[in-house]
Amino acid sequence: MKTIVWFCLFPALLLAKSALYETGKQLYFAKGCNGCHGIKAEGMNEYPLLANRAKGYLANKIKRFRQGLSDNQQQELMIGFARGLSDEEIDALTTYLNEFEDEQTQRYDIPFESWGDGGS
Ligand code: HEC
Repeated sequence: MKTIVWFCLFPALLLAKSALYETGKQLYFAKGCNGCHGIKAEGMNEYPLLANRAKGYLANKIKRFRQGLSDNQQQELMIGFARGLSDEEIDALTTYLNEFEDEQTQRYDIPFESWGDGGS
């Protein structure tokens, strides 16, 4: 019986993103990372893009911030946010960011259509 359950579950597991990815996604929003780095981790102004960047790089940076280290005044902002993170949480967050996939590509891609003569 167990084998049958596993057999049915396996393809579903392959299709879905890993549990770590989902945990990371939840953390990303729960910890407020989206407030600065954007809901698609796309970054804005002085807040860097995080999506699809190397996991090791991101983890290393976050761990430096957690230790209270920063290279410039901008980065001081990150220290408070990194302080509370455990190694497991950093692992989940960086998995999410590294594997980030936009589930809503269509959302902002509504093509602009102009009708008539443009109102002149
Ligand atoms: C208050 C705004 C703010 C919030 C909230 C925030 N960050 Fe940042 N983050 C920054 C700034 C500012 C930098 C540094 C930019 C620079 O180096 O000039 C940064 C840098 C980073 C970097 C290094 C990127 C790089 O290019 O070196 C990572 C990784 C990162 N943040 C992850 C996170 C995660 C994960 C969270 C949520 C736990 C988070 N940030 C929450 C503002 C924020």
